[in-house]
Amino acid sequence: MSFTFTDHNLQKIEQLKTQYPKPQALSLPLLWMAQEQQGYICMEAIEAIAKICETFPMDIYKVATFYTMFQLEPIGKYHIQVCKTLSCKLCNQKQILNTIEDILQIKVGQTTPDQNFTLSLVECLGSCGTAPVMQINDTLYENLTPQSVSSILQELQGVQS
Ligand code: FES
Repeated sequence: MSFTFTDHNLQKIEQLKTQYPKPQALSLPLLWMAQEQQGYICMEAIEAIAKICETFPMDIYKVATFYTMFQLEPIGKYHIQVCKTLSCKLCNQKQILNTIEDILQIKVGQTTPDQNFTLSLVECLGSCGTAPVMQINDTLYENLTPQSVSSILQELQGVQS
């Protein structure tokens, strides 16, 4: 597999270069850009980013593996991230997780066979006051109940058919 940024993204990168003092400082925005472009960050993307950032691929790899929001493997169209931190745990997070696993027939870390849903556990999503919480792609879902989770998933499954 090869990776190259799109012409549009290459233009954005040239603009970004003017906003950062050192090329290495571009690593985070370029990782985001690569993930948005491809859906995940492959090793070839890491090499391309390292070249632009004038650093070693291992430096970019370390950044990409430090942050849980970067995906180094292809994931489903809908990335379900269930908060596993204290407030959510105290508010029946386990029940929410079990509901998702039962409906989608996958466990944490797995993707449905149709490649539509990937399930992950993540640290605090910053909405502890409305626990339990999950995020699907860029949308946050709060005050979850097994019923609301079921409705959300049914709606997304309906979008697929
Ligand atoms: S503990 Fe779940 S959002 Fe903070």
